[in-house]
Amino acid sequence: TRNVQALAADHNTLPADILERYIRPEMAVDDVLLENNSEEIPVIDMSRLMDEVSRDEEASKLKFACEDWGFFQLVNHGVPEKVIDELKEDLMRFYDLPLEKREEVAQLPGDLEGYGQAFIASEEQKLDWADMLYLFTQPPHFRNYKHWPSQPPSFRDSLENYSNATQKVARCILGFMATILGIKHETISEIHESQSVRINYYPPCANGHDKMIGLSPHSDGCGLTLLLQVNPVSGLQISRNGKWLPIMPLPGALIVNIGDALEILTNGRYKSIEHRAVINAKEERISIAALHAPGFEKTVGPLAEIVGEGTPLFKSVTMIEYAKLFFSQKQLYGKKMVELLKLNP
Ligand code: SIN
Ligand code: FE2
Repeated sequence: TRNVQALAADHNTLPADILERYIRPEMAVDDVLLENNSEEIPVIDMSRLMDEVSRDEEASKLKFACEDWGFFQLVNHGVPEKVIDELKEDLMRFYDLPLEKREEVAQLPGDLEGYGQAFIASEEQKLDWADMLYLFTQPPHFRNYKHWPSQPPSFRDSLENYSNATQKVARCILGFMATILGIKHETISEIHESQSVRINYYPPCANGHDKMIGLSPHSDGCGLTLLLQVNPVSGLQISRNGKWLPIMPLPGALIVNIGDALEILTNGRYKSIEHRAVINAKEERISIAALHAPGFEKTVGPLAEIVGEGTPLFKSVTMIEYAKLFFSQKQLYGKKMVELLKLNP
């Protein structure tokens, strides 16, 4: 497959058979909720969670966000502005490099990490209009620096700083997410020992952007995702009441969502919601997803503390088994992977 940023740069002269693989008539945009719909994604203020005076009130908002939406905006999260700005700056510089330089960290066959495209299951599969840079970031000994861009030179430090700061936020939120279900705060956060970062680059497409998709509908396989949008261009849409709801982050906010692993651990109390990214006619869009997950060897199943006298809804699997299940699907999209683990009622 080809680098999409490079395709977009000369897309007026592209052969029809190449463009064809990106055309997705089934991704019709007519099922999108209008921007003026009355429902608003919940906004959680982390500083109010940290403050004893406002904690209970904010925690009940968080509970509703996790049980009803699976998505929320997080403000006052404490990731320093400097850390965010430095990573944004370095990313812009990375995407300004010539293709040969960017491809020094190209994803190789059989690799998960590196600079490439979303997982491709078959030759016939339609493609997403985006490039991604996928890296393991935590724990530190999981880092494989040969996949990390060496240009610009400050990139590695910037990503490390961002990774450390977001991991702290994720652990803290996971702690509150446990407490509000009445279980010990470390129960959920401690098994989320790994983090990977996926940086998405969606080039604009003047011609046919409404028939292409930047990132196909999916739910996240991890436990908790923190998403930072690098530039103020809309694109993220989440599934809500059978429609796609566009989400535009508040300035400085992180978009947080529940992944499959947390849906399983909480026995379905918290919802992992499908989402997708659409592309823009004129502007590029860049987003950074920090994915927090239990380690590959960890077994994930409904927590006994939550199931209680009730019935577990999901089979237990190790994260590596779950990843294999994910990648063994012929058709990756259009179904929630976690459904495959549902036990019969
Ligand atoms: C993602 O689902 O990983 C990214 C969505 C986005 O780019 O907004
Ligand atoms: Fe996602």
